[in-house]
Amino acid sequence: MAIIKTDQLVTLDNHINNEEFKHPGASGEFTGLLHNLTFAIKIISRDVRRAGLNDVLGMTEDTNVHGEQVKRLDEHANETIIRIMQNSGRIAVMASEENEEIITVPENRKRGKYVLVFDPLDGSSNIDVNVTIGTIFGIYKKITDTGGVEDVLQSGYEQVGAGYALYGSSTIFTYSTGKGVNMFAYDPTVGEFLLINENVQIPQKSTYYSVNEGNYNKWSSGMQSFVDYLKIIDKDSGRPYTQRYIGTGIADIHRTLLYGGIFLYPSDMNHKNGKLRLVYEANPLAFLIEQAGGRATDGKNRILELKPKNFHERTPLFLGSINDVLKLEEFLANENK
Ligand code: AHG
Ligand code: MN
Ligand code: MN
Repeated sequence: MAIIKTDQLVTLDNHINNEEFKHPGASGEFTGLLHNLTFAIKIISRDVRRAGLNDVLGMTEDTNVHGEQVKRLDEHANETIIRIMQNSGRIAVMASEENEEIITVPENRKRGKYVLVFDPLDGSSNIDVNVTIGTIFGIYKKITDTGGVEDVLQSGYEQVGAGYALYGSSTIFTYSTGKGVNMFAYDPTVGEFLLINENVQIPQKSTYYSVNEGNYNKWSSGMQSFVDYLKIIDKDSGRPYTQRYIGTGIADIHRTLLYGGIFLYPSDMNHKNGKLRLVYEANPLAFLIEQAGGRATDGKNRILELKPKNFHERTPLFLGSINDVLKLEEFLANENK
């Protein structure tokens, strides 16, 4: 992986503008959309950093469409993205984890040709304990005239861009427009994201696995056997693997992108499709992992080729270094033999 020191002073804005040159015929609308989105990320980052001070921590009385309690910071991040993007003139329609219905652009505002799907704050159960949280997004081109549900139900391979922000020890912004993955760190003293990793490649040899192992007894036998296998001592293959689980999906996947290994959120006896959402969690992450040379499947099928029927639907998700994901698939395929 090419590591660029921040003293090269390549800003995210420069980078986005330069990426536009690689796409012949680009109108600048996509570039504008990314600029608007990174503005929203800067606002959310500021508010996450101030959360304790502003008393935005803690539960609201609302529950989201999944019946989960929504934290105030989730709502705030959601509203920030919606407000900025509705005013951007680039958006046809949006879908968010926090909104039951699609989000349209008011009649009196300009509409654009892009479709944005997002999880405004991922890892919300970690907000109150000061553990890393993030924002995940995917971008499509609209396929209907006016912008409707069909637009947010496109398969993941149709994404023209995807990325995430991570509000950790620093704020990181990672994105891809289908020509590799690039990573930036925010320097709050100058208000800019600076390039830190160019053309990120996921390590293919690694010994990390990331899963909520508390669910072990609810898993299928193939899933259990795979995790048992990772723990068998075998020097040649680097086992036992090291277990890491933050419980903020985007933070676990950020580590997987940089260190390699496998992230797993399987189905279990109570949740036949696992927990993570296909449209605004799994698809953007699968897009990034594939762009970095990794693999992302539901245990059988490529995530990016699944056809969503409902934009809040869930999917089992396995992603990471190619060989680790292939090995998992082998265990799942053999479980009923
Ligand atoms: P969100 O905060 O957007 O609802 O997502 C939470 C998700 C995801 O971040 C993480 O991978 C997963 O929940 C953790 O689930 P468990 O607590 O079941 O391990
Ligand atoms: Mn989430
Ligand atoms: Mn969320």
